[in-house]
Amino acid sequence: MVNKEIVEYIQSLLPEREEAILKMEDYAREHHVPIMDLVGIETMLHLLKIANPKKILEIGTAIGYSAIRMAKVLPNAKIVTIERDEERYKQALLYVNETKTSEQIEVLFGDALELSDQVAEKGPFDALFIDAAKGQYRRFFELYEPLLTERGIIITDNVLFKGLVASEQPIEQKRIRQLVQKIREYNEWLMNHPCYETIILPIGDGMAISRRRGE
Ligand SMILES: C[S@@+](CC[C@H](N)C(=O)[O-])C[C@H]1O[C@@H](n2cnc3c(N)ncnc32)[C@H](O)[C@@H]1O
Repeated sequence: MVNKEIVEYIQSLLPEREEAILKMEDYAREHHVPIMDLVGIETMLHLLKIANPKKILEIGTAIGYSAIRMAKVLPNAKIVTIERDEERYKQALLYVNETKTSEQIEVLFGDALELSDQVAEKGPFDALFIDAAKGQYRRFFELYEPLLTERGIIITDNVLFKGLVASEQPIEQKRIRQLVQKIREYNEWLMNHPCYETIILPIGDGMAISRRRGE
């Protein structure tokens, strides 16, 4: 979406990451696990440092990369994160132990669409990060937004889906076409939400930042 040269230039200026984090990035690359890209995660961490949430809910743990990065920059924050893929869930537990973030991070195994009662007991949350099945974004938002504090923020990743949502080119693959349509619908619904105002940033795969209107 953003010129590759510019992305690489920004990446070259980012601070060094510790060994354990680099190891997770290698694992994700080797095992084709989709984790947040570098500029995207750095942007989100920066925003979170400003918002300073005490409790964060993440939908979509994968191997724990974003949860661990959040825990590291917000040492006083607790993070509840949900993953439905067993192998990734187990790998996330290993990395949480390895990075000594288990005091801060609780990884729940299961489908986020089915765990809201269990998660409600752990709230309220100051930030909600939606980074799971793209076709379900609206359901995740509606299910978990009520668990947010008054000034809570919601970050949704992948809302530009490689730029495809903005393109008028026909998409041949039916599954991708349907997904693009779902994300477009989510973006329009989100931008017109009566209680939340949202800005979409063309960073990483597209990131929507929402906060309550009037806050
Ligand atoms: C893009 S990855 C998450 C990346 C992670 N946030 C990071 O940046 O390190 C999305 C993950 O969400 C999981 N997922 C998808 N739908 C889910 C659902 N309904 N409940 C729980 N996890 C889900 C997938 O298995 C996948 O591992």
